[in-house]
Amino acid sequence: MLFNYTINVLKYFFCILIFVLLSLPANSEMSVEEIIKGRKALFSKNYSTAKKVQALASKGEFDKAKSLMIKMSENYKILIEYFPENSKEGFKTEALPLIWENKKEFNDLMTKSSDDMIKLTSLIEDSDDIRATLTKMMWSNCKACHSKFRAPH
Ligand code: HEC
Repeated sequence: MLFNYTINVLKYFFCILIFVLLSLPANSEMSVEEIIKGRKALFSKNYSTAKKVQALASKGEFDKAKSLMIKMSENYKILIEYFPENSKEGFKTEALPLIWENKKEFNDLMTKSSDDMIKLTSLIEDSDDIRATLTKMMWSNCKACHSKFRAPH
């Protein structure tokens, strides 16, 4: 009995601890490792979300697709903050130094990608060719940025 109780209290404590750690403001005191790993995780997340958007939109499930588009748009805005000067190398980053030489161009691409996801929410339903619209408004932005700012992988 007491043992179970202790376990439950511990579980509760760790849940709260994890919650607090996760809700710490991004970037404020993040280490280089956390920043690089953090942005990689966000990009991977966007990739899996993009695939879901494609699948849902192809099936005509536009409401679900649209809410994911908004999430991707938000993610891009967060990503802009994940390229500070001290995160140019280490931790297997594929980010090219060119990013920091052309920071405005890089950020503009990120912002365009974010804005295009919002535009997509109003375009997708009336689009004659869903696949082509997704390529133009979603996938082409990944390519435009990767071909210039991400190392070949
Ligand atoms: C404005 C630039 C930009 C845009 C737009 C962009 N990416 Fe990336 N992406 C990068 C950079 C830079 C990296 C390398 C990050 C690193 O390794 O530190 C990257 C890395 C990745 C990775 C590898 C993550 C890992 O674990 O190493 C994936 C997957 C990815 N992007 C998918 C996408 C997809 C899918 C899209 C479009 C839906 C997209 N990206 C849009 C710049 C961009």
